[in-house]
Amino acid sequence: MNREDFLMCKDALIYLDNGATTFKPKQVINKVVDYYTKYTANCHRGDYDISQKVDFEYESTREVVRKFINADSREEIIFTSGTTESLNMIIFSFMRHYLKKGDEVLITKAEHASNVLPWFELEKEMGIVVKFIPLTRDYKVTLDNVKAVTTNKTKVISLAYITNVIGDVRPIKEISEFAHQNNILLCVDGAQSVPHMKTDVLRDDIDFLAFSAHKMLGPTGVGILYAKKKFLEVMPPFKYGGGMNIKFESTKELEYKEVPLRFEAGTQNIAGVLGLKAAIEYIESIGIEKIREHEIKLREYLIKRLKEVSNVTVYNEASESGIVIFNLDKIFAEDTANYLNHYHICVRAGNHCTKMIKDDLGVKNTCRISLYLYNTFEEIDKLIDVLKNSKNIYDIIL
Ligand SMILES: Cc1ncc(COP(=O)(O)O)c(C=O)c1O
Repeated sequence: MNREDFLMCKDALIYLDNGATTFKPKQVINKVVDYYTKYTANCHRGDYDISQKVDFEYESTREVVRKFINADSREEIIFTSGTTESLNMIIFSFMRHYLKKGDEVLITKAEHASNVLPWFELEKEMGIVVKFIPLTRDYKVTLDNVKAVTTNKTKVISLAYITNVIGDVRPIKEISEFAHQNNILLCVDGAQSVPHMKTDVLRDDIDFLAFSAHKMLGPTGVGILYAKKKFLEVMPPFKYGGGMNIKFESTKELEYKEVPLRFEAGTQNIAGVLGLKAAIEYIESIGIEKIREHEIKLREYLIKRLKEVSNVTVYNEASESGIVIFNLDKIFAEDTANYLNHYHICVRAGNHCTKMIKDDLGVKNTCRISLYLYNTFEEIDKLIDVLKNSKNIYDIIL
């Protein structure tokens, strides 16, 4: 990996907020600029050369995504605006028709808002029952805990593969086997996992998967919804308009396109989709396993070094990803983040859109460090030096 590919990796800036969004390598930026400067045209609408070039680039991104997550067919890849929209599509289009009053959906208190609020809304609207899988003392999900709350009314399990606060890697393959033996569907929020570890929807037999380009070196405003084709074929469109229909008549006779275009009404974020292709190619040129190895090494080093700071509490030592949450004793998380900002160190502070985990964690707000491929051991050393000198934190931030 060449840090120089990332124009944002400037000497003074230490960016440790990759769970929120990542930097983009110049290969991604160039791809977007090329589209805007060399072949701007709409997609699936033109009969001229530059438009056909756009069609080719756009559709070949679908194939690149398919391979990246090992889906069966490119028709199972739908472009959306992000994980949030993908999850909303699954829940409000497919699940609204699939579920009935009294059916149970299992989530956890460690899920991100976008895998909670649509379910809560569906509960209000149609009387499904959202239940929480209890977490272990390390805030993890085990198959036994899933089994403990499963009943013959359970119809869906909806979980992040890696959570955005605790950073634990869920045993999705085991849960998938159990779910499918019991006629339960499995919906996976891959926002924090797809950028950081090998995703294989066939190996894990995942029914629905949602993730975002901007958390994996790609542009903002692009997401992916993967679903098994048999589900997409019966899922009503989420949006209606141009690009998704074959005909509509004054007699109200309608016909919609086949999947995937049926789900891509209106002009898509074409530049963003093309940038996603460059992002995946960049990740693949390094190797997702190598990226994960690097993050795990950084994580181990970070945890070891955080222990040298006398007034630090780390809450998720037992997790297995590049996400580490901590607080300084008697200091608000936001104040710590402000203090670090004085040294150009970017971390996230707050509840991280995961407002229910405080029930288990016992604290409302934490500082979150989330690592990625361009972070270095030297950056961790600088962070530790600054944390060790935090005695006069309020003199600095006030
Ligand atoms: C686990 C998880 N799910 C969903 C989302 C929402 O992603 P987006 O804002 O890209 O839609 C995030 C974003 O932080 C996340 O971490």
